[in-house]
Amino acid sequence: MAISISLTVNGAPVSAEVEPHTLLVHFIRDTLRLTGTHVGCDTAQCGACTIHMDGRAVKACNVLAVQADGARLTTIEGLAEDGALHPMQAAFRECHGLQCGFCTPGMVMSATALIAAKPDASAEDVRRQLDGNFCRCTGYHNIVKAVLEGAAGMRQQAASTLREAS
Ligand code: FES
Ligand code: FES
Repeated sequence: MAISISLTVNGAPVSAEVEPHTLLVHFIRDTLRLTGTHVGCDTAQCGACTIHMDGRAVKACNVLAVQADGARLTTIEGLAEDGALHPMQAAFRECHGLQCGFCTPGMVMSATALIAAKPDASAEDVRRQLDGNFCRCTGYHNIVKAVLEGAAGMRQQAASTLREAS
């Protein structure tokens, strides 16, 4: 029996019928065709499916689509604005924080959630946050460097938004 859900995805309203057992990650990829959210394990281990749900990083393979009814979701596709990469995306590129890129959307979503909650996060905070995000090829040194660089970019962006508003 399909169930109706309504939610906001990357700022746009979405309504759909989903099966009770449909995982949120499959809804995002297969129904919404937002394939930047990856599936690496389907068992809440690897973090490739990390998105933001009401501002918090969640593993979308660990949430049912019906549980997202009424929620505000952001996927990797929702980070860039007006064609400009989000500071965290730009930092991953600048710092060579990726190789094949499979883990990168999940890393970026996890990192942006951390920095939004704790703008001055330390390298240790970053390592703790990324504990649930696996990279099978790069190694973590450049990823941590990228997150700290991305944090600086996010702080700068927040400061300039504040200046423009005042
Ligand atoms: Fe969700 Fe691996 S696919 S944690
Ligand atoms: Fe290949 Fe992380 S860059 S898995």
